Amino acid sequence: MKKNFLIVGGSSGIGLQLAKHYISEGHKVCVTGRVRPDLPDADFQYFDVTSDSRSLAPDADRIVSCFETVHTLIYAAGFLQRGRIETLDDDDLGSMVNVGLLAPMMLIQRLKCRSDWPLKVMLVTSSSQYTPKELEPAYCATKSGLGMLGASLVRDKSLGKVLVVAPDDVDTEFWRGSNVAKEEMLDPVWVSEQIVDLSGGAFKYKCARILNDPPRVEVLECLNNEMARI
Ligand SMILES: NC(=O)c1ccc[n+]([C@@H]2O[C@H](COP(=O)([O-])OP(=O)(O)OC[C@H]3O[C@@H](n4cnc5c(N)ncnc54)[C@H](OP(=O)(O)O)[C@@H]3O)[C@@H](O)[C@H]2O)c1
Repeated sequence: MKKNFLIVGGSSGIGLQLAKHYISEGHKVCVTGRVRPDLPDADFQYFDVTSDSRSLAPDADRIVSCFETVHTLIYAAGFLQRGRIETLDDDDLGSMVNVGLLAPMMLIQRLKCRSDWPLKVMLVTSSSQYTPKELEPAYCATKSGLGMLGASLVRDKSLGKVLVVAPDDVDTEFWRGSNVAKEEMLDPVWVSEQIVDLSGGAFKYKCARILNDPPRVEVLECLNNEMARI
């Protein structure tokens, strides 16, 4: 069956590679971002998440209407934010929480309300979900929260499968403007292939890390429908 995919943060990096994969399989794909990608076979919705929470509601309403039914939401939006907590101003903190947590919650809430299809949710967190970092306090906290959102949604019988993937460093635009060495980073095409593989088959909840050195996948938890109800 051909499905409709909404990929938030699908304009570049991991989300873009996932969009290309699902298009190649004949599915309908809508990607969001602030920069329209060169992806003629996908719909594009401009979505700029800022620290202004009030602008999120109308944007979220518009984006969930991209298809009559969204079968799968992939949430891949995120950005690098470095600095000790006192160097991050209120806008920095608001943007991080809105991109990393409030926007996905508002989208899932709306998608669930407007569909009788059991929505499948795929959330891209980060290894920072598990690794406290002095210079990434808001990023780590937000990714942790996103992982817990996924784990909690699993308890909802009327939702479909939930996949949470936490990659190590990946060579994407995420790092633009920073001077980190990218040679050892994961390839975004390979990462997207692992995410596609992880999302297949029968499960209710799966949580996996995508690790570097050597590149590998570690499934931390996999629950079927019965186990997810306990
Ligand atoms: N790259 C890594 O090392 C790494 C490691 C672990 C986890 N991750 C996570 O993986 C996910 C994908 O990142 P990536 O590596 O593919 O980076 P990327 O190439 O920079 O892609 C990030 C996506 O998020 C969107 N986005 C960022 N800030 C946004 C905002 N304020 N409003 C709306 N959209 C926004 C971008 O849209 P535009 O570019 O169009 O603005 C883009 O589509 C992110 O959640 C990131 O936190 C990345």
